[in-house]
Amino acid sequence: MCVLSSGARGILLTRQSHSISTRHSNGETNLDQASRALREKYEFASWFYDILDYPWERQYRHWRPLLLQDLGGTVLEAGVGTGRNLRHYPRETQVTGIDLSPGMLSVAKKRSQQAVCDVTLLQHDATRMSEMPVCRFDWYIATFLYCVLPDDLQPLALSEMVRVLKPGGRFRILEIVYSKDPRLARRQQWLARLVETLYGARFDRHTLQLLQQNDEVKISATRFLKADTYLLIEGYKKKPTGEFLS
Ligand SMILES: C[S@@+](CC[C@H](N)C(=O)[O-])C[C@H]1O[C@@H](n2cnc3c(N)ncnc32)[C@H](O)[C@@H]1O
Repeated sequence: MCVLSSGARGILLTRQSHSISTRHSNGETNLDQASRALREKYEFASWFYDILDYPWERQYRHWRPLLLQDLGGTVLEAGVGTGRNLRHYPRETQVTGIDLSPGMLSVAKKRSQQAVCDVTLLQHDATRMSEMPVCRFDWYIATFLYCVLPDDLQPLALSEMVRVLKPGGRFRILEIVYSKDPRLARRQQWLARLVETLYGARFDRHTLQLLQQNDEVKISATRFLKADTYLLIEGYKKKPTGEFLS
């Protein structure tokens, strides 16, 4: 990260993502503010998240094992939430689940007792994982995180994903996007206002396009799990080419 100008309102330019962020007089950048706002939202939502999400979870619970059953090795789950995925990781995985919200994590901690693998839960921001070593994980999993992350934070989260994945390490990202069917899109728009207010989630993020523009990753598959709204993006971090290896 390099500071381009100092003073009460400096401008920060992150080298990898080119996200431009303004620094406010309290020392926070607008990216800090966006993360703090999300954390506060989910601290509140953690009281009722599982109850309110139940109608959707009835669908998701059929997908979660299918997304996770073939994983092995070290796994980072970003935005682990209340830990709905935890019991579906195979025995031979070591899972680190991170989330911004201590409230969501405390529900996840209870749920981690149902897991058959090693689980470590940490309060950590997926957009700045400086304490996580480079090339640490075989897998990166995020379900319904990127629809929540504001547009400015998306490139940061993706570049952190690339940094912590081993070369050849794989990712699966499941997101909700707007349907191209106008009738379905209208129903989604109706719901969108509620989910944005409660969860900060939007269905018009550009996660797939950002991944397509990233030279360090290869998208191996994209498919919809339901209609053209639940988008699963799979890929891996490219290995360095031979001539650069010593
Ligand atoms: C919609 S919930 C999804 C939870 C879970 N992945 C699931 O599939 O049920 C989004 C979660 O992402 C977390 N989150 C949002 N921004 C984050 C960030 N920058 N770093 C880590 N977690 C974040 C929220 O606190 C929340 O728990």
